[in-house]
Amino acid sequence: MVELAPSILSADFTHLADQVKAAAEGGGTVIHVDVMDGHFVPNITWGPPVVKSLRKVTELPLDCHLMIENPDLFIPEFAAAGADWISVHQEACPHLNRTLHLIKSHNCLAGVVINPATPVDTLSEVLDIVDYVLVMSVNPGFGAQEFIRGSLHKVRRLAEIRAERHLNYRIEIDGGIALDTVTDVVRAGAEILVAGNAVFGHGDPKGNAQRLLKTATEATLLRV
Ligand code: DX5
Ligand code: ZN
Repeated sequence: MVELAPSILSADFTHLADQVKAAAEGGGTVIHVDVMDGHFVPNITWGPPVVKSLRKVTELPLDCHLMIENPDLFIPEFAAAGADWISVHQEACPHLNRTLHLIKSHNCLAGVVINPATPVDTLSEVLDIVDYVLVMSVNPGFGAQEFIRGSLHKVRRLAEIRAERHLNYRIEIDGGIALDTVTDVVRAGAEILVAGNAVFGHGDPKGNAQRLLKTATEATLLRV
């Protein structure tokens, strides 16, 4: 099964509640919330107050992707604001095991994220404690960038390791997911598809989400 996680980074913030509603009507089942601090990534977005507001307008899981330094300082606040899933970057966490346990201790699903230049091998010691792994298929910081095809082999490898080691994590992918790339990422084994520009960048978010999810679901039949 594949799930679509619309990323509000590309939404019209003056109508955020309506945009989330439209994406959900189009089949989005997780709302992806990109948190950027201007240090770990060269852009700034929002913090827990926006998560708290989103919590009031949707019952879908809020998937908070923390592109921040020192995430341990903020995880309790995001959890209290209503985050359901929290992911942190391998590159930002010198004590990754501790950070992932901190997320779990706040009753959130714990995810680990790797940038395009970070190998899957760097996760070998935490794959047994994460609920999901997020593979970045663009360099994080901005929406509407070009999909990096080199991320596909990482998705495949994560699916192989999961089978070899009898693990349970889910595989999420983020960056450049659109009608022209979604088939390949689903065939490679991605199960949670983040899409910002393809859902909110132009036209009607509901229809955009429907088309993307339909193509993704068809692609599950092509998995090898
Ligand atoms: C990028 C963010 C993404 C972003 C994806 O740093 O992590 O979630 O919203 O945007 P698109 O789908 O436009 O590539
Ligand atoms: Zn993201």
